[in-house]
Amino acid sequence: MTPDLMESMSELRARHEARLAAQGQGESGDRAAAFGRLLKGGEPDFTHGVALYLDDITVSFDGFKALNSLSLTINVGELRCIIGPNGAGKTTMMDVITGKTRPDAGKASFGSTIDLLRLRENDIAQIGIGRKFQKPTVYEQLSVFENLELALKADRRARASLFHRLSGTQLDRIGEILALIHLKDDAQRTAGLLSHGQKQWLEIGMLLMQDPKLLLLDEPVAGMTDEETERTAELFLSLEGQHSLVVVEHDMKFVDQLTEGRKTVTVLHEGSVLAEGKLSEVQANEKVVEVYLGR
Ligand SMILES: Nc1ncnc2c1ncn2[C@@H]1O[C@H](COP(=O)(O)OP(=O)(O)OP(=O)(O)O)[C@@H](O)[C@H]1O
Ligand SMILES: [Mg+2]
Repeated sequence: MTPDLMESMSELRARHEARLAAQGQGESGDRAAAFGRLLKGGEPDFTHGVALYLDDITVSFDGFKALNSLSLTINVGELRCIIGPNGAGKTTMMDVITGKTRPDAGKASFGSTIDLLRLRENDIAQIGIGRKFQKPTVYEQLSVFENLELALKADRRARASLFHRLSGTQLDRIGEILALIHLKDDAQRTAGLLSHGQKQWLEIGMLLMQDPKLLLLDEPVAGMTDEETERTAELFLSLEGQHSLVVVEHDMKFVDQLTEGRKTVTVLHEGSVLAEGKLSEVQANEKVVEVYLGR
């Protein structure tokens, strides 16, 4: 590693640590205490087949209900697409799951035992929920490989070994992910030089380095070419089963490819579930056509 790179990585590390510290602020003491009990209380339990359970979640912003008694269950290994008009509450739902927004009412659990509403944002990421925002956020000045390496080391369990040499297993893992995200031949390329779609894949790869049980993907193919979109669908289909995926998208062709004519699609509208069923069923649903598809 060159001294320059060493320096930029240590800057990145400092920034990352500062961000983690900032995320830990502003939480009430009882929440922190509850978190201690919960994490010590055990690992998430997926034996009942449920990865995520939202029950009667309401989020109000100045009296406006962005989520209104939203209930949703995602099974272990399931790939669920969520569609709905602008402002339906899709992103707000992800904000609740990841601890960014606290609901006014309702329950949210990860597996059958972990109460998400009592955990802090950073702790939720650590217990196995990965989130992809719409805009790619990779370290542009680092190589593809270094981005994945940093993601691996951002994991608390591995943080003690930060800047130590990668183990064989870790190198193998990076190799696997590079193949999965179609960037094997670009491993040494500077991330800033990748196409928009490739940056999106790299960020997904960075999430996968931490092996999340549940992945939340907010409009992952926005701005991608048709070919990149198709490849992304293939990638998500290959992750299904190993991970649970919640994919929010407006691109119906992509949703069609992901659901393969049989999986459940959830339609959100005004903060609650308007319809649920196969894509062909919800597309034929008059209420759905009226508020969304028929626009
Ligand atoms: N922090 C906030 N303060 C006030 N209102 C908010 C806030 N966040 C979201 N909203 C409002 O809540 C509603 C739901 O927004 P949200 O971003 O969840 O919609 P969405 O389904 O993700 O829409 P899109 O498809 O456009 O991304 C919108 O009316 C939005 O303006
Ligand atoms: Mg949104």
